Amino acid sequence: MRKILAICFLLIPAASLHADEGMWLPSKISGRIDEMRSMGFMLSAEDIYSEDGSSLKDAVVLFAGGCTGELISDEGLLITNHHCGYDQIQAHSSVEHDYLTDGFWAMTREEELPNDGLEVKFLVRMEDVTSSVLKGYKEGMGEGKRIGIAERNSAKIIRKAEKEGAAYEAQIVPMYYGNEYWLFVYQVFSDVRLVGAPPSSIGKFGGDTDNWMWPRHTGDFSLFRIYADKDNNPAPYSEDNVPYRPKRFLNISTAGVKEGDFTMVYGFPGSTKEYIISDEVEYIAEKSDPYRVALRTLVLDNQKSEMDKSAGIRIKYASKNANVANAWKKWQGESKGIRKMGAAASKRKYEAAFEQWASSNGKEYAGITEKLKKTFSGMEDYRFAAEYLNEVFNAVELLGFSYRYVNSDPETRSTVMDAFFKDFHMPVDRNNFSDVIADCEKAAGEEFMPEYLNGLLSVYGHDADSLASFFYASSVFADSVKLKNASLQDMENDICYRLSESFKDFLRDEIMPAYLEGRKEMDLQYRTYMKGIMEFDSLRAFYPDANLTLRVAYGSVQGYSPADGIWYEPVSSIEGIIEKDDPSIYDYDIPQVLREIYAGKNYGRWESGGTVPVCFIATNHTTGGNSGSPVLDGNGNLVGVNFDRVWEGTMSDVVFDGSLCRNIVLDIRYALFVIDKVAGASHLIDEMCIDGD
Ligand code: ARG
Ligand code: ASP
Repeated sequence: MRKILAICFLLIPAASLHADEGMWLPSKISGRIDEMRSMGFMLSAEDIYSEDGSSLKDAVVLFAGGCTGELISDEGLLITNHHCGYDQIQAHSSVEHDYLTDGFWAMTREEELPNDGLEVKFLVRMEDVTSSVLKGYKEGMGEGKRIGIAERNSAKIIRKAEKEGAAYEAQIVPMYYGNEYWLFVYQVFSDVRLVGAPPSSIGKFGGDTDNWMWPRHTGDFSLFRIYADKDNNPAPYSEDNVPYRPKRFLNISTAGVKEGDFTMVYGFPGSTKEYIISDEVEYIAEKSDPYRVALRTLVLDNQKSEMDKSAGIRIKYASKNANVANAWKKWQGESKGIRKMGAAASKRKYEAAFEQWASSNGKEYAGITEKLKKTFSGMEDYRFAAEYLNEVFNAVELLGFSYRYVNSDPETRSTVMDAFFKDFHMPVDRNNFSDVIADCEKAAGEEFMPEYLNGLLSVYGHDADSLASFFYASSVFADSVKLKNASLQDMENDICYRLSESFKDFLRDEIMPAYLEGRKEMDLQYRTYMKGIMEFDSLRAFYPDANLTLRVAYGSVQGYSPADGIWYEPVSSIEGIIEKDDPSIYDYDIPQVLREIYAGKNYGRWESGGTVPVCFIATNHTTGGNSGSPVLDGNGNLVGVNFDRVWEGTMSDVVFDGSLCRNIVLDIRYALFVIDKVAGASHLIDEMCIDGD
């Protein structure tokens, strides 16, 4: 009796899984539809995903291989985030046309700008192909055979699927650690043109200070248009191409949202690890995240102190700094959130209950948790070294540059060199070298450092700063003039190139084999563990970890309490932009036209309650890749564009807390207001279907 009670008690946390947690497979959404409808969804499962006719899925695309976008007109107009279109906006920018600073608006179709290499993918269909992938495999044949059979069968399925239509691309993806295999068939469009982007003072308003934060006031959107050939099929860029006529585009609602309203996010979440064991959770919160944060803090401090010295250096390091800061901030929130939830301890309890169930019921899974822990402890140091040394390598820009330069085609070397020196400021890199190499000695230790580096440090009496002085004074890679005249032999004997190679070799030969072996073993053990917990925890609805495949997340608009005594409201407005506006701070200096519109309260139809709504938060379970995803109301109308999460909830990639995890959404009315009133691009508004007109 006591045993049964204990098990029931321990089951509660999982069985009462928060309704908002989950990234669900669209083709299986019928299993969730009752709950969705009870929360305010008015449509059917077929409205979300259908292979015949059109459904909402036909309006959603994987944008540039890492973000989401959605169609908002019958002429191929697409909206995504400003930070998702950033590379394209930057690529078209120059001193004369600085679209990053000033924004860009194509006033005619002719002005829309083509983008080399930019692709969007529509999901044509998805299918559980587990039995076909494993056809011919029988239990007990061994993992080697299983892999071989799965690969051969998958190749056949993919070949066949890719013949089904023009520019089709197919992919087979394991779900639940290979307990299932799913086929995804996409149609790929490669003529995608830039239509509009607000100035960064709107699209990136608040910069890294506001990044991952609520309350938020960022107008994080940009517009593109998909072009097709005359038959509406995908085609490479051509002047003869015409705007694509999509199977489906989204209607926009300006009714807005309020606390408690249903929201659904339909997009391509990149990666989550919701089912990992307690030891891995603890490793992330206590080791991996804190060490990488500490290292990046050194880098950010060095960048900042130089960036503050001149506008030129600030511009050179703007994008690098944003990249380093993004994960740096997220990891801090993640680690804090995991600790606050006591996630490792509750996973430990769950594992104990599972093992007790497995052994008392004579299940083959009994003992799998211990096996996982053992494999993990055998590979932990290697995993840390792999993650940490990569951070060190990336922190010293000269290392990567020397490697790229020597290994590039001699014809293209001058381009590689120009691109590098354009945004390079040696004092930043020199100080980073000194700081991160010193940190590396402490964090990794000699055993986990490349021999060449150990040798250099011992010559310099383990004084990383003296080594740095010598390094930057003697390397040809630190000096473009010397580098131009250097022979291949000079380069190969150079201290920087040798150090760079020693990092690469050390990782490849000493670290990655043990790490990957452990990873493979764990994935296999996780397959058993996952199957086990799905049987054990049979009341819980399991969703597969995110893996950049299309998912549905549903929840509702809700505020939250980030700390004792504070309550955050779920919606923000233009009032907050004006409160934050400060011409003396780069990230908060809004365009003058916005100040004027505010002063005249000239909001037009985008006004609501005397103001213009800007962002809102909701309980949808999202992650990196969901940026740009459509946020839909109960009728499937577009009410916002997803772009971030709140800092206190960034542990949702590992463990979800319904009281803290919130996604951040750009209110579609602010995007429309900017297009209409700030940019004067009302011709774009005319293409859209807003409130049924
Ligand atoms: N935090 C968001 C995401 O992970 C936005 C990142 C871009 N913005 C920035 N300031 N770095 O993608
Ligand atoms: N900002 C992220 C993205 O770019 C979204 C997130 O991590 O919530 O996909």
